[in-house]
Parts: sequence; structure tokens; C-alpha cells
Amino acid sequence: MPVSRPAPGLQPRPAGVDRMDWPALQAAVAGCRACALCESRKNTVFGIGPVVADGAAPQVDWLIVGEAPGENEDLAGEPFVGQAGKLLDNMLLAIGLQRGNVDTVPRAGVSTSVFITNVLKCRPPANRNPDPAEVAQCEPYLKRQVELLQPKMILALGKFAAQSLLQDSVPELQKIPLGKLRGQVFRYLGVPVVVSYHPAYLLRSLGDKAKAWDDLCLAMNVAPTVVRSA
Ligand code: URA
Repeated sequence: MPVSRPAPGLQPRPAGVDRMDWPALQAAVAGCRACALCESRKNTVFGIGPVVADGAAPQVDWLIVGEAPGENEDLAGEPFVGQAGKLLDNMLLAIGLQRGNVDTVPRAGVSTSVFITNVLKCRPPANRNPDPAEVAQCEPYLKRQVELLQPKMILALGKFAAQSLLQDSVPELQKIPLGKLRGQVFRYLGVPVVVSYHPAYLLRSLGDKAKAWDDLCLAMNVAPTVVRSA
């Protein structure tokens, strides 16, 4: 029986992702060569959130999950730094949140208790859609991030985030349009999940911005105590 081996230059995902602590998980993502995206990436994009002194996972109220790094994110090693990211930052500010990183200047009444990441940690070339095999390789990293971050609310932005997080809980998920997943509260590892439009889509479809605001309000209503003032 032939044994399936990774393509040349690729290596299996590091073992034991499900038991890793935050620094080990960061290192595993940074060195990951489990799919061909490692060949074309400039940087891996683990995610961004408050920096904790001892390097442990920040315990955040909110986790935002997008699709995959684009060109700007690949260069910066940080999620959502392009136009879609500006819109995301404005959406978060509207609910009293700002992304936290080493440079963040705290604003009065605004919380940095949010971690922003993507389903894929590496950029698909030419911003093509994630491939199912790539999503499957990256999925354990996102799962472990959720376990360690212990968010109180997950906002899934766009089809790929929704499908990744809800694949085990929603039957026939692939057949359900994103719009039909809105307005409900799902669970992933016990954490409430609200689905909304991807900011890049909202940049092209301004008419749906009001719906995205409804989604943010739903998320806030489900977890009304989650936003802590800084
Ligand atoms: N789109 C995403 O889904 N994630 C990013 O980080 C940037 C754009």
C-alpha cells in the first residue's frame, strides 16, 4: 500500500497542536509548512490582540475571524490592515472596541479585549479563495486559539469563517447562503458565534452595512456584559 507523503518542501503540521500553549502555537504557525501556501507567503499571520507580559494567551471578550491574509496582511504579518481592515476597525470602534497591539494608545471608554485572526494563517496567491485542503490544515490552529483565548463572543466574518466554525454543528452548511446564517446564535466549542458579512464585501455592497450593524447589535445583546471599558 503506497504511503501518502507531503509534497517536496512540505512537512506535516507539528504534532500536539491541541495541547500547545500560546507561545508554542505561535511558533508552530510561524514555522508551518503543511500546505503549499508556505511556498508563496512572505509572513504567516497569526492574529492580533492585547499583548500579555508573560507571552500567555490574552483572555479576550471578542474573537473576530476573517478569511485569509491578503497582500497587505502578508507583508505586515497582521490581519486586516488594508481597506477592509479600516472598515473592520471602524465597526469595532462603533461597539467600543479597538485592536490591541504593542503600539495601541488606549482610548477612554474603549476596550482592547478583542483578538482578530483568520481561518487561514497564510495568504492564498492572488487572493484566491481558500482551498478546502488548506482550510483543513489550518483548522486545528484556529481551534486551539479559541481554546486558549476563551472569548465570550465570536464574530465570523464571511462564508469561509462561518463554514469553518459551524461545519460540525449545522447540517448541509455548504448549501446555506451566508445571509441565511445571519440573525442566529450558533456555538463553537461552547462559545456563542454570530455570522456577518465580510468587510471586503461590505466595501462593495454599501447597502448591506446596515445589516452588518444589526449583526453587531445581536452579538452585543447576546453577550451584553462582554465589553469592558479600558
Ligand atoms: N480579509 C480577511 O479575511 N482577512 C484579512 O486579514 C484581510 C482581508
